[in-house]
Amino acid sequence: MTTMESLIGLVNRIQRACTVLGDYGGDSALPTLWEALPSVAVVGGQSSGKSSVLESIVGRDFLPRGSGIVTRRPLVLQLHKTEEGLQEYAEFLHLPKRRFTDFSMVRKEIQDETDRMTGRTKQISPVPIHLSIYSPNVVNLTLIDLPGLTKVAVEGQPESIVQDIENMVRSYIEKPNCIILAISPANQDIATSDAMKLSREVDPTGERTFGVLTKLDLMDKGTNALDVLEGRSYRLLHPWVGIVNRSQADINKNVDMIAARRREREFFATSPDYGHLSSKMGSEYLAKLLSKHLEAVIRARIPSITSLINKSIDELEGELDHLGRPIAIDAGAQLYTILELCRAFDRIFKEHLEGGRPGGDR
Ligand code: GDP
Ligand code: NA
Ligand code: MG
Repeated sequence: MTTMESLIGLVNRIQRACTVLGDYGGDSALPTLWEALPSVAVVGGQSSGKSSVLESIVGRDFLPRGSGIVTRRPLVLQLHKTEEGLQEYAEFLHLPKRRFTDFSMVRKEIQDETDRMTGRTKQISPVPIHLSIYSPNVVNLTLIDLPGLTKVAVEGQPESIVQDIENMVRSYIEKPNCIILAISPANQDIATSDAMKLSREVDPTGERTFGVLTKLDLMDKGTNALDVLEGRSYRLLHPWVGIVNRSQADINKNVDMIAARRREREFFATSPDYGHLSSKMGSEYLAKLLSKHLEAVIRARIPSITSLINKSIDELEGELDHLGRPIAIDAGAQLYTILELCRAFDRIFKEHLEGGRPGGDR
């Protein structure tokens, strides 16, 4: 792994340890540390393809997808890159000792855990589900899947649901550390896109917004999305990325991720409209773009992250000195884990500085 990968990996693990610790962090630097670390959230209308895009970024099938309101609780998904050759597995915060190696069981658990909070209804809940995936094939990243924005309440939903969803989504994407994946389907007019409306509201300069156009395969014959993808319809600071996810028919036929990615690549490579853009389109390109951006953000923040980490180390050492007083065993162990991770971050960072290229890759 590069130094940068190791640092981002540690940051990811510190975030996770802070999550496990919950509110115990109290007045310490830990909550601030969490806020200093970037995450990526999706915003868009219902069924615009948000969950599908996240799945392709991960390169694994594990999210509930489909028409109507499927994602009904926020899912905070942490990807942890592991050494080559190790087995992939997933772990939920609410099921700490259970390792999932069958990803269809991960999807089932997300559905069951959603239902546990909301019943088998069309209701939503703001209480997030926390999931970690450990794999040699992912980049270190925190992704957040959110319910889609809607216009009207449907049968079985309270009238307030439209506003409730918008507030919930806003509470994630308004944080300055949140990188926004604004998802719009190509078969609808971009001028009506909920994703663009809300993301522009919370990020007017567009510095943390990535525009993603899904469903390019579903556009009317004779039309194309070049005006959007080339930035003429709606200018963004970062380039637009076009995507072709699996259709509902593909999902029903269990078309796998590898086949889907191959078809997506072929779609762009052979398209008379998008052929010239094909190296900058598709899910794999989006994943690379995001991890490069994330690296740049973390690199720029390393000085402040390092000082927060050092502050945390001091506080945690002080905290652990007092372990004689009544303290939950688990919290103590968790604080110790965070301390160890912070020390590792500090050590790798210093070694790297001594290597002479601050922030650079090896
Ligand atoms: P979400 O509600 O925004 O999370 O959207 P989902 O990812 O659940 O997708 C909603 C529906 O749209 C599913 O049936 C997907 O198969 C379908 N879908 C999403 N993206 C595309 C795409 O690029 N092309 C096609 N043909 N269907 C898509
Ligand atoms: Na949906
Ligand atoms: Mg969804």
